[in-house]
Amino acid sequence: MSDKFYYINKQLEQLPEKEKAVLQKKLDAIDFSVLKEIERRATVTERGVFAPLEAVEVDEIEKRADEFKEIGLKTLRDGKVGLVLLAGGQGTRLGFDQPKGTVNIGLTKEIYIFECLMNNLMQVVKEVGVFIPLYIMTSISNKKETVDFFEEHQYFGYDKSYIKFFIQEMVPTVDFEGRVLMASNTELAMAPNGNGGWFSSMVLDGMLEDVHKRGIEWINVFAVDNVLQKMADPMFIGATIASGCESGAKVVRKAAPDEKVGVLCTEDGKPSIAEYYEMTEEMATARKENGDLKYGFGVILNYLFREDKLEQIANRHMPIHVVEKKIPYMDEDGKKIKPEKPNGYKFETLVLDMVHMMADCLPYEVIREKEFAPIKNLHGVDSIDTARELLIQNGVEL
Ligand code: UTP
Repeated sequence: MSDKFYYINKQLEQLPEKEKAVLQKKLDAIDFSVLKEIERRATVTERGVFAPLEAVEVDEIEKRADEFKEIGLKTLRDGKVGLVLLAGGQGTRLGFDQPKGTVNIGLTKEIYIFECLMNNLMQVVKEVGVFIPLYIMTSISNKKETVDFFEEHQYFGYDKSYIKFFIQEMVPTVDFEGRVLMASNTELAMAPNGNGGWFSSMVLDGMLEDVHKRGIEWINVFAVDNVLQKMADPMFIGATIASGCESGAKVVRKAAPDEKVGVLCTEDGKPSIAEYYEMTEEMATARKENGDLKYGFGVILNYLFREDKLEQIANRHMPIHVVEKKIPYMDEDGKKIKPEKPNGYKFETLVLDMVHMMADCLPYEVIREKEFAPIKNLHGVDSIDTARELLIQNGVEL
């Protein structure tokens, strides 16, 4: 084995026979092919030619509200929409050990991130009159805590026969020298494989049978950490279907040309998300005749996909992003370290790369202050503090 396996080899040299066998068995079951992505990481970010993509904006949405709502409500009532909540992340920036959704963000009472989402969803359920199937993606490490939490809180009033949990795949992590990290004497420091693997993980974990049985034709996928997240939104569903597109993305108007958000545009004619650091100054500041930015709408991780199209792309290789993260590990002296700053790489697929695999995608404008309150950090930008302010502004009691 090469230097990549430095820490593992150290353990194999010194462990007693029994534990060595335990470790060896685990090693045999792990696919280490992601490690070669380190060398490839410069090419993953090579991009094609970007061009602007027109969004359906708030004024048009208002004008066509009745049409969109009618289509959306009917599709939901017919049971054709399934929801996927992405809750497999490790929330390293927030720094809590438990699943992000279980974090209490209340001020005078307990109110959890999952609870905020379920409250938003219950509003739609009341309007539509039927429960909407909800699939929750966890990682192996946070599944039990997540399921127990929902049980403990009686699924926040949701009919539990409409909720299913599935797990996402895990991959090894490495330090900055590319050496596979260990978590203990007999375990590697594994991490979830990023939010782009959600559909293939659904397939692997046997969810497709349920999706087919229920007759689901559209899947709305969204992040756990936006507490103002509106999922199963009849207007968004109606607008996407009316547009004839096979996918849709909720977007918010960029606050300033240099705002650090990924914008929805096209790349070589296919929908795509250009990260802020991939945009030239010229792209970032280009304006339309009416003065609006040409690349003016950022994504908020709330997408709608046609289910049959997802099945078509399920086996296609997705780009693997090599991301710097804080990864808890065991050092060569056997000491467990919880790093304060990034100490290695995780290998992640991203849901935004799925958008690029679709023939088209409708950018659907939503008002940031009403629908976007992400919790990434404890304080500062996109934090519990900013989310609380926005929740209060929207009349949520904390
Ligand atoms: P982030 O990209 O913010 O990652 O996730 P994270 O792991 O939650 O947080 P940091 O970066 O370590 O601080 C965006 C959404 O994708 C989900 C998260 O749960 C969140 O809803 N996600 C992320 C997964 O479901 N699986 C993953 O492997 C990564």
